Amino acid sequence: MRITLRCMVIVSLLFLVSMFCLDFSNVYANDIDALEIYADKCVLCHGEDGKDTSTGIDFGVKDFTDKEWQASRTDDEFMHRIDNC
Ligand code: HEC
Repeated sequence: MRITLRCMVIVSLLFLVSMFCLDFSNVYANDIDALEIYADKCVLCHGEDGKDTSTGIDFGVKDFTDKEWQASRTDDEFMHRIDNC
Protein backbone atom coordinates (compact mmCIF):
# COMPACT_ATOMS: atom_id res chain seq x y z
CA MET A 1 0.00 0.00 0.00
CA ARG A 2 2.77 2.39 0.96
CA ILE A 3 4.73 1.55 -2.19
CA THR A 4 1.72 2.12 -4.44
CA LEU A 5 1.14 5.53 -2.94
CA ARG A 6 4.81 6.41 -3.33
CA CYS A 7 4.71 5.30 -6.99
CA MET A 8 1.69 7.47 -7.62
CA VAL A 9 3.41 10.48 -6.08
CA ILE A 10 6.53 9.90 -8.16
CA VAL A 11 4.57 9.45 -11.39
CA SER A 12 2.56 12.58 -10.64
CA LEU A 13 5.70 14.57 -9.98
CA LEU A 14 7.31 13.30 -13.20
CA PHE A 15 4.20 14.30 -15.10
CA LEU A 16 4.23 17.78 -13.58
CA VAL A 17 7.93 18.26 -14.31
CA SER A 18 7.46 17.11 -17.92
CA MET A 19 4.64 19.63 -18.36
CA PHE A 20 7.05 22.39 -17.40
CA CYS A 21 9.85 21.06 -19.59
CA LEU A 22 7.92 20.45 -22.79
CA ASP A 23 7.28 23.44 -24.98
CA PHE A 24 3.98 23.04 -26.80
CA SER A 25 4.04 26.53 -28.30
CA ASN A 26 4.66 25.32 -31.86
CA VAL A 27 2.36 22.31 -31.85
CA TYR A 28 -0.70 24.22 -32.98
CA ALA A 29 -0.55 26.12 -36.28
CA ASN A 30 -2.76 28.85 -34.84
CA ASP A 31 0.02 29.81 -32.48
CA ILE A 32 2.25 30.82 -35.39
CA ASP A 33 2.31 34.59 -35.64
CA ALA A 34 2.55 35.34 -39.35
CA LEU A 35 2.91 39.08 -38.75
CA GLU A 36 5.86 38.48 -36.47
CA ILE A 37 7.53 36.22 -39.05
CA TYR A 38 6.86 38.74 -41.80
CA ALA A 39 8.27 41.59 -39.67
CA ASP A 40 11.32 39.49 -38.85
CA LYS A 41 12.10 37.89 -42.22
CA CYS A 42 10.35 39.76 -45.04
CA VAL A 43 10.04 43.46 -44.19
CA LEU A 44 13.63 44.12 -45.23
CA CYS A 45 12.78 43.65 -48.92
CA HIS A 46 8.98 43.76 -49.11
CA GLY A 47 8.28 46.61 -46.67
CA GLU A 48 5.78 46.85 -43.80
CA ASP A 49 2.89 47.47 -46.19
CA GLY A 50 4.06 44.98 -48.84
CA LYS A 51 4.68 47.69 -51.39
CA ASP A 52 8.50 47.28 -51.46
CA THR A 53 11.60 48.93 -50.02
CA SER A 54 14.69 50.50 -51.52
CA THR A 55 16.53 47.24 -50.74
CA GLY A 56 13.77 45.22 -52.37
CA ILE A 57 13.67 47.37 -55.48
CA ASP A 58 17.37 46.69 -56.03
CA PHE A 59 16.53 42.98 -56.04
CA GLY A 60 13.46 43.45 -58.24
CA VAL A 61 10.54 42.88 -55.83
CA LYS A 62 6.98 43.55 -56.93
CA ASP A 63 4.31 45.63 -55.18
CA PHE A 64 2.23 43.03 -53.25
CA THR A 65 -0.74 45.41 -53.19
CA ASP A 66 -0.95 45.66 -57.00
CA LYS A 67 -4.15 43.82 -58.00
CA GLU A 68 -2.97 43.08 -61.54
CA TRP A 69 0.23 41.56 -60.24
CA GLN A 70 -1.74 39.49 -57.65
CA ALA A 71 -4.04 38.20 -60.39
CA SER A 72 -1.07 37.23 -62.56
CA ARG A 73 0.03 34.57 -60.07
CA THR A 74 -1.62 31.40 -58.73
CA ASP A 75 -1.72 30.53 -55.03
CA ASP A 76 0.65 27.65 -55.77
CA GLU A 77 3.16 30.05 -57.29
CA PHE A 78 2.95 32.27 -54.21
CA MET A 79 3.45 29.30 -51.89
CA HIS A 80 6.42 28.05 -53.91
CA ARG A 81 8.01 31.52 -53.95
CA ILE A 82 7.48 32.06 -50.21
CA ASP A 83 9.16 28.72 -49.54
CA ASN A 84 12.13 29.82 -51.63
CA CYS A 85 12.29 33.54 -50.88
C1 HEC B 1 16.52 39.61 -49.69
C2 HEC B 1 15.26 40.18 -50.09
C3 HEC B 1 13.98 39.40 -49.85
C4 HEC B 1 13.49 38.92 -48.66
C5 HEC B 1 14.12 39.06 -47.28
C6 HEC B 1 12.22 38.30 -48.98
N1 HEC B 1 11.97 38.39 -50.30
FE1 HEC B 1 10.25 37.81 -51.24
N2 HEC B 1 11.02 38.45 -53.03
C7 HEC B 1 12.24 39.06 -53.20
C8 HEC B 1 12.42 39.37 -54.61
C9 HEC B 1 13.66 40.04 -55.22
C10 HEC B 1 11.26 38.94 -55.28
C11 HEC B 1 10.91 39.08 -56.75
C12 HEC B 1 11.73 38.27 -57.64
C13 HEC B 1 11.11 36.96 -57.96
O1 HEC B 1 9.89 36.83 -57.97
O2 HEC B 1 11.87 36.04 -58.23
C14 HEC B 1 10.39 38.38 -54.26
C15 HEC B 1 9.16 37.85 -54.50
C16 HEC B 1 8.30 37.39 -53.55
C17 HEC B 1 6.96 36.96 -53.81
C18 HEC B 1 6.28 36.98 -55.16
C19 HEC B 1 6.43 35.76 -55.95
C20 HEC B 1 5.99 35.93 -57.35
O3 HEC B 1 5.33 35.01 -57.83
O4 HEC B 1 6.31 36.93 -57.98
C21 HEC B 1 6.42 36.59 -52.62
C22 HEC B 1 5.01 36.08 -52.37
C23 HEC B 1 7.43 36.78 -51.60
N3 HEC B 1 8.56 37.28 -52.20
C24 HEC B 1 7.27 36.53 -50.28
C25 HEC B 1 8.25 36.70 -49.33
C26 HEC B 1 8.08 36.34 -47.94
C27 HEC B 1 6.81 35.76 -47.34
C28 HEC B 1 9.25 36.65 -47.31
C29 HEC B 1 9.61 36.43 -45.86
C30 HEC B 1 9.45 35.06 -45.36
C31 HEC B 1 10.15 37.20 -48.30
N4 HEC B 1 9.50 37.20 -49.51
C32 HEC B 1 11.42 37.68 -48.04
C33 HEC B 1 13.15 39.36 -52.22
C34 HEC B 1 13.02 39.05 -50.89
